[in-house]
Order: sequence, then structure tokens, then C-alpha cells
Amino acid sequence: MKPNEPSRTALMIARQRTAHQLLDHGSILDDPFALKILHEDEKDILQFANAHPLASIGRLFTAARSRIAEDALSGAVERGIRQIVILGAGLDTFALRNPHGALEIRIYEVDYPATQAWKRERLAEAQIAVPPWLIFVPVDFERDNVGEKLVAAGFQQNAPAFFTWLGVVPYLTQDAVGRTLDYVASIQNSEVVFDYMEPPQAFSEEMRELVTKRTEELEKMDERWASRFESAGMRAFLRSHGFSTIEDIGFQEIASRFGSVVQGLASGQAGLHVVHAGTGRIIP
Ligand SMILES: C[S@@+](CC[C@H](N)C(=O)[O-])C[C@H]1O[C@@H](n2cnc3c(N)ncnc32)[C@H](O)[C@@H]1O
Repeated sequence: MKPNEPSRTALMIARQRTAHQLLDHGSILDDPFALKILHEDEKDILQFANAHPLASIGRLFTAARSRIAEDALSGAVERGIRQIVILGAGLDTFALRNPHGALEIRIYEVDYPATQAWKRERLAEAQIAVPPWLIFVPVDFERDNVGEKLVAAGFQQNAPAFFTWLGVVPYLTQDAVGRTLDYVASIQNSEVVFDYMEPPQAFSEEMRELVTKRTEELEKMDERWASRFESAGMRAFLRSHGFSTIEDIGFQEIASRFGSVVQGLASGQAGLHVVHAGTGRIIP
């Protein structure tokens, strides 16, 4: 990440989410705020969505990981969890769409300070009011103690919490991922949904070319992929950081569950996974 500059990848993911509304009618993730917070022309978003024949795969994965996270989150709320933490929130709009507003839920959005400041500007420009349950917590996962920052913002460490961490783990060092997972696991009966990336060999040939191109683009933006895990390695990593229940959903399953509604979905295998992990028994 460039110091004092908002994340460029947060902007790209917000464009993917908006393209999903425009091209796929939000069939996986219905997000009425996606275009509003982005404040870009529909034609530019469509151009972005069609810039590469394999972009549809990224659009599918972006929408699906949010769907999986938000469904798991609803289950956690039904079980009584009232604290939600969105790690590396970018332009995520869950807090604006929160269907559990009547339940005295608190939503903590944790993000790189410059990205968070940019999001707040975007909200103000779009005249979207910050809902009363949303608390912003600026944090750099590489340098800060996420627990200390959350507690300073009012987070209750002795009450369970649900964490989402979408599109962030690949950009962090393994140390920062491990430290953050340690903190999540230190909260009794906590749960987390996040995604991770496998090494390039797990991608089909045409996808590998795209991964190489993206790696070069990210390098220029100062936002590089810093950690990759194989699925067995991720399972062991999670266990060593205190997680006892682990559901790992691979790309093939994601494509078969959600792919039919994505317009012109390209074929290809991606080494991308979504994990739902917990420290207690998660009742699906
Ligand atoms: C690809 S974006 C995903 C944003 C969001 N979760 C979404 O799905 O729209 C990556 C996010 O991770 C955040 N991020 C990356 N490195 C970070 C760091 N060291 N500390 C805090 N946040 C970081 C960026 O600010 C950005 O919001």
C-alpha cells in the first residue's frame, strides 16, 4: 500500500460489485448502494468489466465471497452475535444494507487509514448518511495491534463477534495474517469468513496469464500479493491459530453454486477459496 493513499484494489473490487449489479442484475449479491458509492458512469464500469475476457471470473468470485460471508453472518446474528467486524472494508456496503438494524448490532469497519478516509469522503459526496451502528476503526494490519484499536473504538472483547475479511489476506504478509487470526481466535465463539489464493499452479493456463498481468499491475500500484496458501496449508495454519471448525469452499464449488447467473462466465480454474472458520461449534 502506498502511504497516505487509498487502496486502488478497493476501487477495482467496488467496480466488480457494480458490474455485477449491471450485468448480472445483482443475482448473487443485491447491492443498491454499489453504483451510488462508486459514483462512476455505467459505461465506464461496463468497459472495465469487459476489459479482459476472464474478468467475469473475478466478478463471480467478488459477488460470491460476499454472499457466503453475509449468509454466514446472518446465521451468527440468529445465534445471538451482535458485534460484526469488517476487516479491510474498502467500499463494502454491508453496513449500509444491514438487515439486522433493529437488533442493536454494532458494525466495526476496520481499514487502512487512507482507504477509510477516502470511503468517508465518498459517502459524504454521495450524500449517504453513516448509519448509527457503524464505527470506523483505522488500522494498518502490518503495523498496528488490531485488538487495541478495536477496543479503543468500543469493541467488547468478552462478547462473541463475527469477522469478515474479503479480498485482503492475499495482500498481507503471513505474519500480519497470523496476528490478526490470533486476535479473532482470542474472542470466544468468534467466527471469520475470508478468502485466500493458492500458488499460480492452481490456476488454469489462461488464468495464469491473467495472474501474471495482474501481478505486474499491482506492483505499479504498490499493492502486491504477499501471501498464498495451499488448502492443506491453510487448514493447518488455521488450526495452529486456534480455529477448530473450518469450512473451505474452493472455486469449482463456487462456480457451480453461483456461476449460472453470471453473464458470459468464462471457463477456467482459479486457485481461489473462501473459508468460514470458527473457534466454537458453528451450527450451519
Ligand atoms: C481488494 S480490497 C477489498 C476491499 C473490500 N473488502 C471489498 O471486498 O470490497 C483490499 C482492502 O484491504 C485493505 N488493506 C490492504 N492492506 C492493508 C493493511 N496493511 N492494513 C489495513 N488494510 C489493508 C485495503 O485498504 C482495501 O480496503
